[in-house]
Amino acid sequence: MSKFWSSVVGELKPYTPGEQPKVSGLIKLNTNEHCLPPSENAMAILGDVSPDSLRRYPDPESTVLRSAIARSEGLSVSQVFVGNGSDEVLAHIFQGLLSSSELLITPDITYSFYPVWAALYGLRLQTEALQTDFSIDVNRLSAQEGSILLANPNAPTGRALDLVDIKRLVDSNPDRLVVIDEAYYGFGAESAASLIATAENLMVTRSLSKSHALAGLRVGYALGSAALIEGLIRVKDSFNSYPLDAIAQRVGAAAIEDTQWLRHSSQVVKDNRGKLSESLTNLGFEVCPSLANFIFVKHPDHEGRVLFEHLRENNILVRRWDKKAIASYLRITVGTEAECAALVRCLADYCAA
Ligand SMILES: Cc1ncc(COP(=O)(O)O)c(C=O)c1O
Repeated sequence: MSKFWSSVVGELKPYTPGEQPKVSGLIKLNTNEHCLPPSENAMAILGDVSPDSLRRYPDPESTVLRSAIARSEGLSVSQVFVGNGSDEVLAHIFQGLLSSSELLITPDITYSFYPVWAALYGLRLQTEALQTDFSIDVNRLSAQEGSILLANPNAPTGRALDLVDIKRLVDSNPDRLVVIDEAYYGFGAESAASLIATAENLMVTRSLSKSHALAGLRVGYALGSAALIEGLIRVKDSFNSYPLDAIAQRVGAAAIEDTQWLRHSSQVVKDNRGKLSESLTNLGFEVCPSLANFIFVKHPDHEGRVLFEHLRENNILVRRWDKKAIASYLRITVGTEAECAALVRCLADYCAA
């Protein structure tokens, strides 16, 4: 606490990211990083970084990266915004777009950064209860007043809405902004990006952290109408002209262009997710249906906290929350086959003891 803190800073309850351990040798299934290394085409860029490209400032408009994204989505560059991770992109959306509305609605169980940005930028947040199976009641949500922000697939549940439901939400009130956070794009859920061409009130955010195995690069983006994107550019250019460094712009573009890598890696994650879900179901776990690169599970006979600690003692990191409705659950990133097998063995030993 300092006398120089503003009242807003004094009230903040900052987001706590998942642990990034300083020791090696852990099986790390707690922050939904991809189980495979990134595209070789993208990594090859690193051997070709000239001193001059680092001596100079990067392109403030990230034109090469935005063009690659625009091409892959069939959109124009003016419909693409990029930022330092989708967290930064979302923060700009909160500040520049969502704060124009009286009220923002999110599910009560979702990405726990949303209430933090709402507090930082002074937005009134209303949470909508999920149903008992963690699905979203689209009819109820459509009938509410206010802007809507949904992670699709949702985190930490992994459940996804299909495109028909997203379209219903978007069409339910053209005067409200609907933001779909597709951080877990690429693992089987339908994307809302195809609606951008006709919906002026829709914004889709994505990340290269999960789908492209580039969490360390910090690249996120938003797709929307040129007018919405211009609003975000105005915020960015009043905050930091160069949020993406010269390396991130080029590596990100090469990763987006390597569609073969995306197809292959996505299939690996889906296969591993299927096998992991099946093995845990066989151990008596309830597994929430997931279209993300993680699964959300609980065991009827064992507390989430106890299972979490048992895994931790055996050098396996997963994630859990104390929030009452989900306290018995573990969120487990889909790892390599070997990592998933080690986790299943550890839980099987505990359940059998
Ligand atoms: C739902 C959701 N949205 C956004 C993000 C932010 O991703 P990044 O800032 O790495 O792009 C995350 C990260 O875990 C997430 O789970």
